[in-house]
Amino acid sequence: MNRPKFHFTTQKNWINDPNGLVFLDGEYHLFYQHNPLGNTPGNIGWGHAVSADLLNWTELPMAIPFADGIMAFSGSVIVDKQNASGFGANALIALFTAHHTMRRLETQHLAYSTDLGRTWTQYAGNPVLDIGKADFRDPKVFWHQATQRFIMLVVLPDEHKVLFYNSSDLKSWVFASEFGPAGATNGIWEVPDMFSLPLEGTQHWVLKVDIGSGGQHGGSGGQYFTGQFDGTKFIADSLGTKWLDYGKDFYAALSFANLKSRTVWLAWMNNWEYAALTPTSPWRGAMSIPRELGLKRTGQGVCLVQHPIPELEQLRANCFQVQNFTINTETRNLPITGSRAVPITGSRAVPIMDSRAVPITHKGFELEAEFTLETAQEFGFLLGENLKIAYDTIDQEIFVFRSQIQDSDFHPNFAGRHHAKLPLEQTLHLRIFIDTCSVEIFVQHGEIVLTDLIFPNLLSTTLKLYAKNGTVQIKNLAIWELE
Ligand code: FRU
Repeated sequence: MNRPKFHFTTQKNWINDPNGLVFLDGEYHLFYQHNPLGNTPGNIGWGHAVSADLLNWTELPMAIPFADGIMAFSGSVIVDKQNASGFGANALIALFTAHHTMRRLETQHLAYSTDLGRTWTQYAGNPVLDIGKADFRDPKVFWHQATQRFIMLVVLPDEHKVLFYNSSDLKSWVFASEFGPAGATNGIWEVPDMFSLPLEGTQHWVLKVDIGSGGQHGGSGGQYFTGQFDGTKFIADSLGTKWLDYGKDFYAALSFANLKSRTVWLAWMNNWEYAALTPTSPWRGAMSIPRELGLKRTGQGVCLVQHPIPELEQLRANCFQVQNFTINTETRNLPITGSRAVPITGSRAVPIMDSRAVPITHKGFELEAEFTLETAQEFGFLLGENLKIAYDTIDQEIFVFRSQIQDSDFHPNFAGRHHAKLPLEQTLHLRIFIDTCSVEIFVQHGEIVLTDLIFPNLLSTTLKLYAKNGTVQIKNLAIWELE
Protein backbone atom coordinates (compact mmCIF):
# COMPACT_ATOMS: atom_id res chain seq x y z
CA MET A 1 0.00 0.00 0.00
CA ASN A 2 1.22 3.49 -0.95
CA ARG A 3 4.51 2.18 -2.34
CA PRO A 4 6.54 4.89 -4.12
CA LYS A 5 7.64 4.52 -7.74
CA PHE A 6 11.09 6.08 -7.67
CA HIS A 7 12.09 6.12 -4.00
CA PHE A 8 13.85 3.20 -2.36
CA THR A 9 11.71 0.90 -0.19
CA THR A 10 12.25 -2.70 0.85
CA GLN A 11 9.89 -5.42 -0.37
CA LYS A 12 8.56 -5.66 3.14
CA ASN A 13 9.12 -4.60 6.74
CA TRP A 14 10.63 -1.71 8.60
CA ILE A 15 13.59 0.48 7.61
CA ASN A 16 15.07 3.64 9.09
CA ASP A 17 18.45 5.39 8.66
CA PRO A 18 20.61 4.89 5.56
CA ASN A 19 23.95 3.37 6.61
CA GLY A 20 27.33 2.76 5.01
CA LEU A 21 26.62 4.51 1.71
CA VAL A 22 29.58 3.77 -0.54
CA PHE A 23 30.51 3.48 -4.22
CA LEU A 24 32.86 0.72 -5.38
CA ASP A 25 33.53 -0.89 -8.77
CA GLY A 26 30.60 0.74 -10.53
CA GLU A 27 28.14 -0.12 -7.78
CA TYR A 28 26.40 2.09 -5.24
CA HIS A 29 25.73 0.38 -1.91
CA LEU A 30 22.83 1.36 0.28
CA PHE A 31 22.76 -0.24 3.71
CA TYR A 32 19.98 0.69 6.07
CA GLN A 33 18.56 0.04 9.51
CA HIS A 34 16.19 -2.87 8.97
CA ASN A 35 13.89 -5.13 10.93
CA PRO A 36 13.59 -8.20 8.70
CA LEU A 37 10.82 -9.62 10.87
CA GLY A 38 8.24 -6.86 11.12
CA ASN A 39 7.23 -3.37 10.12
CA THR A 40 7.95 -1.59 13.38
CA PRO A 41 11.41 -0.97 14.92
CA GLY A 42 13.07 -4.05 16.43
CA ASN A 43 15.63 -6.80 15.64
CA ILE A 44 17.69 -4.09 13.98
CA GLY A 45 20.54 -4.97 11.66
CA TRP A 46 21.90 -3.67 8.36
CA GLY A 47 19.84 -4.41 5.28
CA HIS A 48 21.55 -4.04 1.91
CA ALA A 49 20.71 -2.95 -1.63
CA VAL A 50 22.86 -2.14 -4.67
CA SER A 51 22.40 0.03 -7.73
CA ALA A 52 24.36 0.97 -10.83
CA ASP A 53 22.61 4.31 -11.27
CA LEU A 54 21.22 5.45 -7.88
CA LEU A 55 17.73 5.02 -9.36
CA ASN A 56 17.08 1.28 -9.64
CA TRP A 57 17.95 -0.78 -6.58
CA THR A 58 18.29 -4.52 -6.01
CA GLU A 59 17.69 -5.75 -2.50
CA LEU A 60 20.25 -8.27 -1.24
CA PRO A 61 20.28 -10.46 1.91
CA MET A 62 20.89 -8.78 5.29
CA ALA A 63 24.50 -7.60 5.54
CA ILE A 64 24.92 -7.39 9.33
CA PRO A 65 22.00 -9.02 11.15
CA PHE A 66 20.88 -8.74 14.75
CA ALA A 67 22.81 -11.52 16.53
CA ASP A 68 24.04 -12.52 19.98
CA GLY A 69 22.04 -9.81 21.71
CA ILE A 70 23.61 -7.08 19.58
CA MET A 71 21.61 -4.89 17.25
CA ALA A 72 23.70 -3.31 14.49
CA PHE A 73 22.78 0.36 14.80
CA SER A 74 23.79 3.11 12.39
CA GLY A 75 27.26 3.62 10.99
CA SER A 76 29.31 4.12 7.87
CA VAL A 77 31.49 2.23 5.39
CA ILE A 78 34.82 3.19 3.89
CA VAL A 79 36.93 1.63 1.12
CA ASP A 80 40.30 0.70 2.63
CA LYS A 81 42.35 1.47 -0.48
CA GLN A 82 45.82 1.05 1.06
CA ASN A 83 44.95 -1.94 3.22
CA ALA A 84 45.55 0.09 6.38
CA SER A 85 43.42 -2.36 8.36
CA GLY A 86 45.11 -5.49 7.10
CA PHE A 87 41.81 -6.94 5.84
CA GLY A 88 42.84 -6.50 2.20
CA ALA A 89 43.27 -3.69 -0.31
CA ASN A 90 39.89 -2.25 -1.28
CA ALA A 91 38.14 -4.13 1.51
CA LEU A 92 34.92 -2.49 2.62
CA ILE A 93 35.18 -1.58 6.30
CA ALA A 94 31.99 -0.91 8.26
CA LEU A 95 32.08 0.96 11.57
CA PHE A 96 28.74 0.69 13.31
CA THR A 97 27.22 0.92 16.75
CA ALA A 98 26.72 -2.31 18.64
CA HIS A 99 23.58 -1.70 20.66
CA HIS A 100 23.75 -4.29 23.46
CA THR A 101 20.26 -5.48 24.34
CA MET A 102 21.20 -7.34 27.56
CA ARG A 103 22.74 -4.29 29.24
CA ARG A 104 22.64 -0.56 28.68
CA LEU A 105 25.69 -0.12 26.51
CA GLU A 106 26.62 1.12 23.04
CA THR A 107 30.08 0.42 21.60
CA GLN A 108 31.63 0.86 18.16
CA HIS A 109 32.29 -2.27 16.16
CA LEU A 110 34.11 -3.06 12.93
CA ALA A 111 33.07 -5.55 10.26
CA TYR A 112 34.72 -6.05 6.89
CA SER A 113 33.86 -7.44 3.47
CA THR A 114 36.24 -8.58 0.74
CA ASP A 115 33.48 -9.62 -1.69
CA LEU A 116 31.92 -6.27 -2.60
CA GLY A 117 29.70 -6.14 0.44
CA ARG A 118 28.01 -9.51 -0.12
CA THR A 119 29.28 -11.10 3.10
CA TRP A 120 30.61 -9.47 6.26
CA THR A 121 32.97 -10.70 8.97
CA GLN A 122 32.99 -9.24 12.46
CA TYR A 123 36.47 -8.17 13.58
CA ALA A 124 37.71 -10.48 16.35
CA GLY A 125 39.01 -7.51 18.35
CA ASN A 126 35.61 -5.81 18.71
CA PRO A 127 34.71 -3.39 20.16
CA VAL A 128 37.10 -0.91 18.57
CA LEU A 129 35.76 1.81 20.85
CA ASP A 130 34.05 1.51 24.22
CA ILE A 131 33.75 4.40 26.67
CA GLY A 132 31.23 2.60 28.86
CA LYS A 133 28.23 4.74 27.86
CA ALA A 134 24.65 3.61 27.27
CA ASP A 135 24.24 6.22 24.53
CA PHE A 136 27.23 6.62 22.26
CA ARG A 137 26.56 5.97 18.61
CA ASP A 138 26.44 6.38 14.83
CA PRO A 139 30.12 6.44 13.79
CA LYS A 140 30.93 8.26 10.57
CA VAL A 141 34.39 7.48 9.23
CA PHE A 142 36.35 9.20 6.48
CA TRP A 143 39.93 9.60 5.27
CA HIS A 144 41.53 12.98 5.96
CA GLN A 145 43.98 13.65 3.17
CA ALA A 146 45.94 16.50 4.80
CA THR A 147 46.83 14.58 7.99
CA GLN A 148 46.83 11.13 6.33
CA ARG A 149 44.58 9.70 9.01
CA PHE A 150 41.13 8.24 9.35
CA ILE A 151 38.67 10.36 11.29
CA MET A 152 35.66 9.02 13.16
CA LEU A 153 32.78 11.12 14.48
CA VAL A 154 30.52 9.58 17.13
CA VAL A 155 27.74 11.33 19.08
CA LEU A 156 26.96 11.52 22.75
CA PRO A 157 23.21 12.00 22.17
CA ASP A 158 22.14 13.37 25.58
CA GLU A 159 25.16 15.62 25.95
CA HIS A 160 24.69 17.14 22.46
CA LYS A 161 28.29 16.47 21.53
CA VAL A 162 30.10 15.07 18.53
CA LEU A 163 33.36 13.35 19.53
CA PHE A 164 36.25 13.16 17.04
CA TYR A 165 38.73 10.28 16.98
CA ASN A 166 41.80 9.56 14.81
CA SER A 167 43.23 6.30 13.57
CA SER A 168 45.81 4.98 11.13
CA ASP A 169 44.44 1.41 10.94
CA LEU A 170 40.67 1.78 11.54
CA LYS A 171 41.01 -0.53 14.56
CA SER A 172 42.57 1.61 17.27
CA TRP A 173 41.08 5.03 17.80
CA VAL A 174 42.49 7.99 19.72
CA PHE A 175 40.29 10.78 21.05
CA ALA A 176 41.03 14.09 19.30
CA SER A 177 38.40 16.68 20.25
CA GLU A 178 34.71 17.36 20.73
CA PHE A 179 32.13 19.74 19.29
CA GLY A 180 28.94 20.93 21.01
CA PRO A 181 26.52 21.66 22.50
CA ALA A 182 25.62 24.15 19.76
CA GLY A 183 22.72 24.98 17.49
CA ALA A 184 19.52 23.07 18.22
CA THR A 185 19.70 21.01 21.42
CA ASN A 186 16.03 20.40 22.28
CA GLY A 187 16.38 16.72 21.48
CA ILE A 188 19.12 14.08 21.50
CA TRP A 189 21.84 14.34 18.86
CA GLU A 190 22.16 11.48 16.37
CA VAL A 191 23.82 10.43 13.11
CA PRO A 192 26.68 12.86 12.44
CA ASP A 193 28.13 13.31 8.96
CA MET A 194 31.03 15.41 7.76
CA PHE A 195 32.60 16.34 4.42
CA SER A 196 34.23 19.27 2.68
CA LEU A 197 32.82 21.11 -0.33
CA PRO A 198 34.30 23.75 -2.63
CA LEU A 199 33.63 27.37 -1.71
CA GLU A 200 35.31 30.35 -3.33
CA GLY A 201 38.36 28.40 -4.42
CA THR A 202 38.98 26.44 -1.21
CA GLN A 203 37.44 23.48 0.60
CA HIS A 204 35.04 24.38 3.39
CA TRP A 205 33.73 21.83 5.91
CA VAL A 206 30.19 20.83 6.75
CA LEU A 207 29.26 19.05 9.97
CA LYS A 208 25.74 17.65 10.03
CA VAL A 209 24.02 16.33 13.11
CA ASP A 210 20.37 15.36 13.57
CA ILE A 211 18.13 15.90 16.55
CA GLY A 212 15.75 13.16 17.63
CA SER A 213 13.02 15.54 18.80
CA GLY A 214 12.59 19.30 19.03
CA GLY A 215 13.10 19.82 15.29
CA GLN A 216 11.73 23.04 13.82
CA HIS A 217 8.26 21.55 13.34
CA GLY A 218 8.39 19.21 16.32
CA GLY A 219 9.63 15.65 16.08
CA SER A 220 13.02 14.85 14.56
CA GLY A 221 15.02 17.07 12.21
CA GLY A 222 18.47 17.79 10.86
CA GLN A 223 20.88 20.69 11.30
CA TYR A 224 24.34 21.58 10.03
CA PHE A 225 27.31 23.77 10.81
CA THR A 226 29.90 25.03 8.34
CA GLY A 227 33.49 25.75 9.28
CA GLN A 228 37.13 24.67 9.36
CA PHE A 229 38.56 21.26 10.19
CA ASP A 230 42.28 20.52 10.56
CA GLY A 231 42.04 16.79 11.18
CA THR A 232 41.75 17.30 14.93
CA LYS A 233 39.20 19.97 15.69
CA PHE A 234 36.15 21.47 13.99
CA ILE A 235 35.69 25.24 14.32
CA ALA A 236 32.24 26.41 13.24
CA ASP A 237 31.68 29.66 11.32
CA SER A 238 28.70 30.25 13.57
CA LEU A 239 26.97 28.33 16.36
CA GLY A 240 23.46 29.32 15.33
CA THR A 241 20.94 26.73 14.08
CA LYS A 242 20.80 26.04 10.35
CA TRP A 243 18.19 23.50 9.31
CA LEU A 244 18.91 21.05 6.54
CA ASP A 245 15.39 20.72 5.34
CA TYR A 246 12.24 22.66 6.18
CA GLY A 247 9.82 19.78 5.84
CA LYS A 248 9.27 17.23 8.54
CA ASP A 249 10.54 14.06 6.88
CA PHE A 250 14.26 14.16 6.14
CA TYR A 251 16.28 12.41 8.83
CA ALA A 252 19.64 10.72 9.31
CA ALA A 253 21.05 11.97 5.98
CA LEU A 254 24.30 10.28 5.05
CA SER A 255 26.77 11.02 2.24
CA PHE A 256 28.34 8.42 -0.05
CA ALA A 257 31.95 7.47 0.49
CA ASN A 258 34.35 7.06 -2.43
CA LEU A 259 32.64 9.23 -5.05
CA LYS A 260 35.06 10.88 -7.46
CA SER A 261 33.89 14.39 -8.09
CA ARG A 262 30.72 15.11 -6.21
CA THR A 263 29.10 14.78 -2.80
CA VAL A 264 25.76 12.98 -2.78
CA TRP A 265 23.55 12.10 0.15
CA LEU A 266 20.13 10.73 0.89
CA ALA A 267 18.06 10.40 4.03
CA TRP A 268 15.31 8.40 5.64
CA MET A 269 12.11 10.14 4.59
CA ASN A 270 10.37 9.98 7.92
CA ASN A 271 10.07 11.41 11.41
CA TRP A 272 10.44 9.47 14.67
CA GLU A 273 7.29 11.17 15.94
CA TYR A 274 5.06 8.96 13.76
CA ALA A 275 7.42 6.72 11.78
CA ALA A 276 6.00 3.48 13.18
CA LEU A 277 2.42 4.46 12.29
CA THR A 278 2.58 5.57 8.66
CA PRO A 279 -0.16 3.95 6.54
CA THR A 280 2.01 1.69 4.38
CA SER A 281 2.34 -2.06 4.07
CA PRO A 282 3.93 -4.55 3.88
CA TRP A 283 6.85 -2.11 3.76
CA ARG A 284 7.47 0.83 6.09
CA GLY A 285 10.05 3.56 5.50
CA ALA A 286 11.48 5.04 2.30
CA MET A 287 14.66 6.89 1.36
CA SER A 288 14.66 10.38 -0.15
CA ILE A 289 15.91 10.96 -3.66
CA PRO A 290 19.71 11.29 -3.75
CA ARG A 291 20.88 14.91 -3.68
CA GLU A 292 24.08 16.56 -4.83
CA LEU A 293 25.51 19.03 -2.34
CA GLY A 294 27.24 22.36 -2.65
CA LEU A 295 27.95 25.50 -0.64
CA LYS A 296 27.00 29.07 -1.37
CA ARG A 297 27.63 32.32 0.46
CA THR A 298 24.37 34.21 1.10
CA GLY A 299 23.25 37.05 3.37
CA GLN A 300 22.89 34.43 6.13
CA GLY A 301 26.49 33.21 5.82
CA VAL A 302 27.63 29.98 4.18
CA CYS A 303 24.64 27.89 3.19
CA LEU A 304 24.26 24.30 2.03
CA VAL A 305 22.57 23.85 -1.34
CA GLN A 306 21.00 20.56 -2.43
CA HIS A 307 20.18 19.53 -5.99
CA PRO A 308 18.37 16.42 -7.21
CA ILE A 309 21.05 14.23 -8.84
CA PRO A 310 21.06 14.72 -12.64
CA GLU A 311 20.45 10.97 -13.12
CA LEU A 312 16.82 11.61 -12.15
CA GLU A 313 16.27 13.28 -15.53
CA GLN A 314 16.46 9.80 -17.08
CA LEU A 315 13.09 9.09 -15.48
CA ARG A 316 11.35 11.88 -17.35
CA ALA A 317 8.71 10.58 -19.72
CA ASN A 318 5.76 12.58 -21.02
CA CYS A 319 6.12 16.30 -20.63
CA PHE A 320 3.55 19.06 -20.42
CA GLN A 321 4.61 22.64 -20.61
CA VAL A 322 3.33 26.18 -20.51
CA GLN A 323 4.98 29.59 -20.75
CA ASN A 324 4.01 33.15 -19.90
CA PHE A 325 0.69 32.39 -18.38
CA THR A 326 -1.17 34.52 -15.83
CA ILE A 327 -2.98 32.93 -12.94
CA ASN A 328 -5.72 35.01 -11.43
CA THR A 329 -7.95 34.47 -8.44
CA GLU A 330 -9.80 31.74 -10.30
CA THR A 331 -8.11 28.49 -9.51
CA ARG A 332 -6.76 26.78 -12.62
CA ASN A 333 -6.60 23.05 -12.95
CA LEU A 334 -3.61 21.50 -14.58
CA PRO A 335 -3.94 18.31 -16.53
CA ILE A 336 -1.17 15.94 -15.62
CA THR A 337 -2.38 13.33 -18.01
CA GLY A 338 -5.59 13.95 -19.88
CA SER A 339 -7.11 12.25 -22.85
CA ARG A 340 -6.89 15.47 -24.85
CA ALA A 341 -3.27 16.12 -24.14
CA VAL A 342 -0.92 14.55 -26.65
CA PRO A 343 2.10 13.70 -24.59
CA ILE A 344 5.41 14.00 -26.32
CA THR A 345 8.99 13.97 -25.23
CA GLY A 346 11.80 16.12 -26.52
CA SER A 347 11.83 19.79 -27.28
CA ARG A 348 8.24 20.20 -28.46
CA ALA A 349 5.85 20.26 -25.56
CA VAL A 350 2.14 20.12 -25.12
CA PRO A 351 0.58 23.30 -23.83
CA ILE A 352 -1.49 22.97 -20.72
CA MET A 353 -4.92 23.76 -21.98
CA ASP A 354 -7.61 25.16 -19.79
CA SER A 355 -9.25 25.10 -16.44
CA ARG A 356 -10.93 21.73 -16.72
CA ALA A 357 -10.13 19.40 -13.86
CA VAL A 358 -8.21 16.44 -15.18
CA PRO A 359 -7.47 13.54 -12.90
CA ILE A 360 -3.91 12.50 -12.31
CA THR A 361 -3.33 9.07 -13.77
CA HIS A 362 0.24 8.88 -12.68
CA LYS A 363 1.83 8.30 -9.31
CA GLY A 364 5.15 10.00 -9.83
CA PHE A 365 6.00 13.28 -11.44
CA GLU A 366 8.35 16.24 -11.43
CA LEU A 367 7.36 19.88 -11.75
CA GLU A 368 9.64 22.75 -12.58
CA ALA A 369 8.12 26.18 -12.24
CA GLU A 370 9.31 29.75 -12.44
CA PHE A 371 6.91 32.39 -11.13
CA THR A 372 7.15 36.16 -11.45
CA LEU A 373 5.52 37.83 -8.49
CA GLU A 374 2.64 40.20 -9.20
CA THR A 375 -0.19 41.19 -6.89
CA ALA A 376 -1.27 37.79 -5.49
CA GLN A 377 -0.93 37.48 -1.72
CA GLU A 378 -0.46 33.76 -1.98
CA PHE A 379 0.00 31.41 -4.93
CA GLY A 380 1.10 27.91 -5.72
CA PHE A 381 -0.13 24.37 -6.24
CA LEU A 382 -2.98 22.42 -4.74
CA LEU A 383 -2.80 18.66 -4.89
CA GLY A 384 -6.31 17.45 -4.23
CA GLU A 385 -7.77 18.91 -1.09
CA ASN A 386 -4.98 17.69 1.15
CA LEU A 387 -1.85 19.40 0.06
CA LYS A 388 -0.77 22.94 -0.67
CA ILE A 389 2.70 23.96 -1.89
CA ALA A 390 2.70 27.72 -1.95
CA TYR A 391 4.35 31.06 -1.39
CA ASP A 392 2.91 33.62 1.01
CA THR A 393 3.99 37.09 -0.11
CA ILE A 394 2.80 38.78 3.10
CA ASP A 395 4.78 36.63 5.53
CA GLN A 396 7.41 35.93 2.85
CA GLU A 397 7.33 32.21 3.40
CA ILE A 398 7.46 29.18 1.20
CA PHE A 399 5.34 26.47 2.75
CA VAL A 400 3.79 23.04 2.54
CA PHE A 401 0.44 22.52 4.17
CA ARG A 402 -0.70 18.93 4.58
CA SER A 403 -4.10 18.61 6.15
CA GLN A 404 -5.62 16.12 8.48
CA ILE A 405 -7.90 14.01 6.36
CA GLN A 406 -8.19 10.37 5.40
CA ASP A 407 -4.87 8.60 5.65
CA SER A 408 -3.15 11.44 7.49
CA ASP A 409 -5.27 10.78 10.59
CA PHE A 410 -2.77 8.22 11.80
CA HIS A 411 -1.05 10.75 14.10
CA PRO A 412 -2.23 14.11 15.51
CA ASN A 413 1.06 15.81 14.64
CA PHE A 414 1.19 14.67 11.03
CA ALA A 415 -0.98 17.47 9.64
CA GLY A 416 0.58 20.92 9.68
CA ARG A 417 2.15 23.83 7.89
CA HIS A 418 5.89 23.56 7.32
CA HIS A 419 7.51 26.76 6.16
CA ALA A 420 10.81 28.54 5.51
CA LYS A 421 11.41 32.28 5.44
CA LEU A 422 12.12 33.45 1.92
CA PRO A 423 12.16 37.16 1.12
CA LEU A 424 11.72 37.49 -2.65
CA GLU A 425 12.25 40.35 -5.06
CA GLN A 426 10.68 38.98 -8.20
CA THR A 427 11.21 35.38 -9.13
CA LEU A 428 10.44 32.09 -7.42
CA HIS A 429 11.96 28.92 -8.82
CA LEU A 430 10.66 25.52 -7.71
CA ARG A 431 11.58 21.96 -8.61
CA ILE A 432 9.17 19.51 -7.07
CA PHE A 433 9.27 15.71 -6.99
CA ILE A 434 5.99 14.08 -6.13
CA ASP A 435 5.84 10.35 -5.62
CA THR A 436 3.07 8.17 -4.28
CA CYS A 437 3.47 9.32 -0.69
CA SER A 438 6.07 12.09 -0.64
CA VAL A 439 6.93 15.52 -1.91
CA GLU A 440 10.42 17.05 -2.16
CA ILE A 441 10.63 20.72 -3.03
CA PHE A 442 13.87 22.40 -4.11
CA VAL A 443 13.40 26.15 -3.79
CA GLN A 444 15.60 28.78 -5.50
CA HIS A 445 17.91 26.12 -6.97
CA GLY A 446 18.35 24.17 -3.75
CA GLU A 447 18.93 26.94 -1.22
CA ILE A 448 15.87 25.74 0.65
CA VAL A 449 14.49 22.20 0.57
CA LEU A 450 11.26 20.86 2.04
CA THR A 451 10.65 17.13 2.29
CA ASP A 452 7.31 15.82 3.48
CA LEU A 453 5.40 12.59 3.46
CA ILE A 454 1.91 12.95 2.05
CA PHE A 455 -0.88 10.44 1.67
CA PRO A 456 -3.20 12.05 -0.86
CA ASN A 457 -4.28 9.03 -2.93
CA LEU A 458 -2.80 10.56 -6.05
CA LEU A 459 -4.86 8.59 -8.49
CA SER A 460 -8.12 10.13 -7.40
CA THR A 461 -6.93 13.69 -7.23
CA THR A 462 -6.13 16.70 -9.38
CA LEU A 463 -3.33 19.21 -9.45
CA LYS A 464 -4.34 22.85 -9.52
CA LEU A 465 -2.58 26.17 -9.72
CA TYR A 466 -4.01 28.98 -7.66
CA ALA A 467 -3.52 32.63 -6.80
CA LYS A 468 -5.21 34.41 -3.91
CA ASN A 469 -6.23 38.10 -4.00
CA GLY A 470 -4.38 39.02 -7.17
CA THR A 471 -2.33 37.57 -9.98
CA VAL A 472 0.95 35.81 -10.52
CA GLN A 473 2.82 35.09 -13.78
CA ILE A 474 4.07 31.66 -14.65
CA LYS A 475 7.11 32.27 -16.79
CA ASN A 476 7.69 28.58 -17.29
CA LEU A 477 6.05 25.44 -16.06
CA ALA A 478 7.03 21.93 -17.06
CA ILE A 479 5.52 18.74 -15.73
CA TRP A 480 7.08 15.37 -16.42
CA GLU A 481 5.61 12.02 -15.66
CA LEU A 482 8.36 9.95 -14.14
CA GLU A 483 8.77 6.32 -15.12
C1 FRU B 1 18.57 7.49 14.27
C2 FRU B 1 18.85 6.31 15.18
C3 FRU B 1 20.33 6.16 15.44
C4 FRU B 1 20.47 4.71 15.76
C5 FRU B 1 19.44 4.09 14.86
C6 FRU B 1 18.73 2.90 15.45
O1 FRU B 1 17.36 7.39 13.60
O2 FRU B 1 18.14 6.45 16.38
O3 FRU B 1 20.84 7.03 16.42
O4 FRU B 1 21.75 4.24 15.51
O5 FRU B 1 18.48 5.08 14.56
O6 FRU B 1 17.93 2.27 14.49
